[in-house]
Amino acid sequence: MTTRILVVQELKPLLGDAPVPGCEITWFPSRGPVPAGDFRALVPLVATPVGEDLIDALQELKIIANCGVGTDNIDLEAASRHGVLVSNTPDVLTEATADLTWALILAAGRRLKEGLRMVERGQWSGWDPTLLLGMELKGRTLGVIGAGRIGSAVARRAPAFGMRVVYTARTARPELDAALGAARVDLHRLLGESDVVTLHVPLTPETVGLLNRERLQLLKRGSLVINAARGDLLDEEALLEGLEAGRIAGAGLDVFHGEPEVDPRLVAHPRVVTLPHIGSATEDTRRAMAALAVANVRAVLAGQPPLTPVSR
Ligand code: DGY
Repeated sequence: MTTRILVVQELKPLLGDAPVPGCEITWFPSRGPVPAGDFRALVPLVATPVGEDLIDALQELKIIANCGVGTDNIDLEAASRHGVLVSNTPDVLTEATADLTWALILAAGRRLKEGLRMVERGQWSGWDPTLLLGMELKGRTLGVIGAGRIGSAVARRAPAFGMRVVYTARTARPELDAALGAARVDLHRLLGESDVVTLHVPLTPETVGLLNRERLQLLKRGSLVINAARGDLLDEEALLEGLEAGRIAGAGLDVFHGEPEVDPRLVAHPRVVTLPHIGSATEDTRRAMAALAVANVRAVLAGQPPLTPVSR
């Protein structure tokens, strides 16, 4: 009997036509309906909702191999109840996402959006000693909320900019403390001490709205808020209020509540850099993510555990 699997069609250019030998692939659009049938594996994107109804409809499903590290698009409890394994693509995207986080820090700190607009609109009238003065990173403090794989990689880049690091993490990170002189602190202290706050926790029921109005009010005056993790970690309304009040100097956002819709006030705001969820978007990384997702499918269909399982 042929083994049938479902793979999101946006991965085709990264995988080629027959990435799982011996299997018949049905390609499906990530934003369209997922076909039902006797499929044994499903490879979605982080933008593909995989809810209980879908899991229920795919009766033969053995594995959901998410192409992405975050799994908030998947109903993990439902997968568990149905005995379906879940895997993700950690590690391969860490460095690309950390690089993009620093692109946001630099863009927000040095007011690149205002500068770009000024030149594009022909509004630049010449060198001016007080034009677009931004934040000098040297000597400032970077607050990493969630020093997991990506958060740690962001922290490791901080000494190149002369920044001190404080971080939150579920467990101590002695290697960061030793290498960077970093300090693990609680969230309250991190928000009060940091000049740049960057989010790197997964989106779970516990972390939704982590940077809410109350917490944003703890920020130092003139700090930057960076989010390349998930939009729903941050209260965008409260962020806008903080920007208007001048408490927050700028923001760099790669992810949004309800994306791909983006609040037009964020798009228009001169101090908010908005990107279309491209944290891991390098050719090497996206190929590696696609290959790892498929390697997880192969492992499970061969009766082995996934290479990178998601534990519940
Ligand atoms: C992820 O992997 O979760 C990112 O958001 C996409 O690279």
